[in-house]
Amino acid sequence: MTILILGNGAREHALAWKLSQSPLVKALFVAPGNAGTAEVAKNLPLDPLQPASVVKAAQEQQVDLVFVGPEGPLEAGVVDALQAAGIAVIGPDRHRAQLESSKVFSKNFMLRNGLPTARAQQFSQAAAFGAFMESSRGKIVVKKSGLAAGKGVLETSDHAQALAFGLEILKTDHLLVEEFLTGWEISVFVLSDGLNYVVLPPTADFKKALENDEGPNTGGMGAICPVPTVTPELWQRVLAEAVEPTVRALNKEGLNYKGVIFIGLMITAEGPKILEYNTRFGDPETQVLMPLIESDFAKLLKAMAEGTVAEYHLEMSRNVALGVVVAAGGYPGAYREGASVTGLPTELPGRLQVFHASTTGLAGQVFTGGGRCFTVVSVEGSPQAAQEAALAGCAEVRFDGAWYRKDIGTKFLGRLT
Ligand code: AMP
Ligand code: GLY
Repeated sequence: MTILILGNGAREHALAWKLSQSPLVKALFVAPGNAGTAEVAKNLPLDPLQPASVVKAAQEQQVDLVFVGPEGPLEAGVVDALQAAGIAVIGPDRHRAQLESSKVFSKNFMLRNGLPTARAQQFSQAAAFGAFMESSRGKIVVKKSGLAAGKGVLETSDHAQALAFGLEILKTDHLLVEEFLTGWEISVFVLSDGLNYVVLPPTADFKKALENDEGPNTGGMGAICPVPTVTPELWQRVLAEAVEPTVRALNKEGLNYKGVIFIGLMITAEGPKILEYNTRFGDPETQVLMPLIESDFAKLLKAMAEGTVAEYHLEMSRNVALGVVVAAGGYPGAYREGASVTGLPTELPGRLQVFHASTTGLAGQVFTGGGRCFTVVSVEGSPQAAQEAALAGCAEVRFDGAWYRKDIGTKFLGRLT
């Protein structure tokens, strides 16, 4: 099989690293890729947001299957263009991608199907929103409907701040005001062939920039899989109350697709509630999932494309994977790119992996490209051991301004002791 992955993050590096180990994969391309993906695949210099360039490259390289990493190309209609050209692709078309790209669309889907989620009001007019805010009390969550790269959500008890944030959104978009849920979050990944599905074990990411989950939101500063506090009983509830009813509702409404359904859940005192759907893999969650998959991942993608997921047997390692993001100085604010990286730790097969994001250059001479530069992932028998090994790996990734959180996973360990 020849596979093309779209994207250039550590998520795409982890996917390419995993697929490169499959005997089914004869050729592997990543577009545009990074210095890490260049070690396991061939990078193609194209813009994944341009449907015509993606179709052309897939035809030129005789690609059998395209896998879309980030949400941008989904919203740009890359899947629609590939499907029109008769090229197999994993990911939703633009209409179905609204489950992620429109929070109004996705909230309406949840509510009309009776799925567990926060109560919400929708607004498209400043006057109605202003009147609602007059009577609203307590902590609320204001959300921009469209894609906002993590910057479209405000949780606050300060209603003047909420009003200002909301009015700004209404200049260009619709918004939701949600009840504030308390609990702890997990990310669940469902891989569907459009009818049947497999569920990967629970993961959690660490969204805040600072230790103890303080400071501003980021794309994610680390992740763990499985989540130590998800007991078998809780997992059964997640499957029965969120996963299974979501897939059933998608199939019933014709919103089903071949691809990843990412369910962001809040575990509340009343049980799991759906915060959001994404229509792709998470970053950094993918970096901790891929090293734990023991069955052939390329075979799973093929089964998703061909509609035979019901026959696929997923095998997962019983170990724990913990990933820590090494970020550029200044991130999530303005940060510097192009720092020269020294001391990438040499790979210890299967136990410590360094996944690159937006890096350029070649092995031995790598330069940073984005805000979150690397995810260092360790696989060990316990969360404690995995954390220790990942942090030891991070200490060896050296570039000017490099920093990382030293408490990824700790909040879950505390609950166990
Ligand atoms: P979303 O993009 O909708 O997942 O929101 C981003 C983040 O905001 C979530 O991961 C939560 O940490 C937080 N959040 C969103 N909705 C709520 C809610 N209703 N109650 C509490 N926190 C929320
Ligand atoms: N880690 C959350 C996301 O990928 O959206």
